[in-house]
Amino acid sequence: MLLTDREYEKFVEFIYNQTGIHFDSRKNTFISKRITNRLENLGEESFTKYFDFLRYKDFQKIELQELVNLLTINESYFFRDFPQIEAFANYCLTEVVERKSAEDIFTIRIWSAGCSSGDEPYTLAIILSEILDFNHWKIEVHASDIDLTILDKAKKGIYEERSIRDVPLEYLAKYFVKIGNKYKVNDKIKSMVHFEHLNLSDIKSMRLKRNFDFIFCRNVLIYFDELSRKKVIDNFFLSLNSGGYIFLGSSESINRITTAFTIKKKGGYLVYTKD
Ligand SMILES: C[S@@+](CC[C@H](N)C(=O)[O-])C[C@H]1O[C@@H](n2cnc3c(N)ncnc32)[C@H](O)[C@@H]1O
Repeated sequence: MLLTDREYEKFVEFIYNQTGIHFDSRKNTFISKRITNRLENLGEESFTKYFDFLRYKDFQKIELQELVNLLTINESYFFRDFPQIEAFANYCLTEVVERKSAEDIFTIRIWSAGCSSGDEPYTLAIILSEILDFNHWKIEVHASDIDLTILDKAKKGIYEERSIRDVPLEYLAKYFVKIGNKYKVNDKIKSMVHFEHLNLSDIKSMRLKRNFDFIFCRNVLIYFDELSRKKVIDNFFLSLNSGGYIFLGSSESINRITTAFTIKKKGGYLVYTKD
């Protein structure tokens, strides 16, 4: 069952306003399938009635959340975009650590925004464990996502082989426990990451996120249009400490959106920093 053009427009506009995620006109089959799934679950038959429910009666946004859980693209894996992770570890983290040590500040706060199944924040926790002495440093890795189902998976920290395919063997042995044919991040790494439900388009929640040295928001804003992407990036600017870095996916550039960040080349890699 496909949504009519009019129905489709109403749904995608509503989803866009609530989440910032933009679906173009080619996604009707994808959206219709997921909405049909919700209709079946609710014993509802009409797209219009379902829309009216979402729009006017879903006061706690519980049904909206169910739908969003089905609409998000959660592809992720450990050590994704290895050269970028190397630039972070070898240059940016080292630089921030040196500066903060000189200032007698021994905290590092990192935020993985749009963390999906946890592969990204756990990767960051592994790197921090390798580089920093925890007797001296207080480390906070915050991880957030709009999708509650994927956050549950992230908190469990159990992965299939394909998620850990790029993990260096030495780290696999050190930070994972093999359970059958799956891999579980060990308790030390798990305890470093704090997961949280957060919609990047929700201005109130975003205002609470402050004082980060690093923000990773990779392969998330590709699903946003330029306007909502700009709003999120402007908020990230406020969330970052001076001297902090933001990492986006390798195909994502913020040049067109803002000039607030300074671009630097670190180890052959372009990174954005807040002066
Ligand atoms: C493709 S995954 C990227 C995961 C990870 N950052 C990486 O690069 O491997 C995109 C994630 O962004 C989340 N997302 C999409 N829109 C969001 C929003 N408005 N607020 C928070 N998270 C969002 C999705 O639920 C999904 O888990």
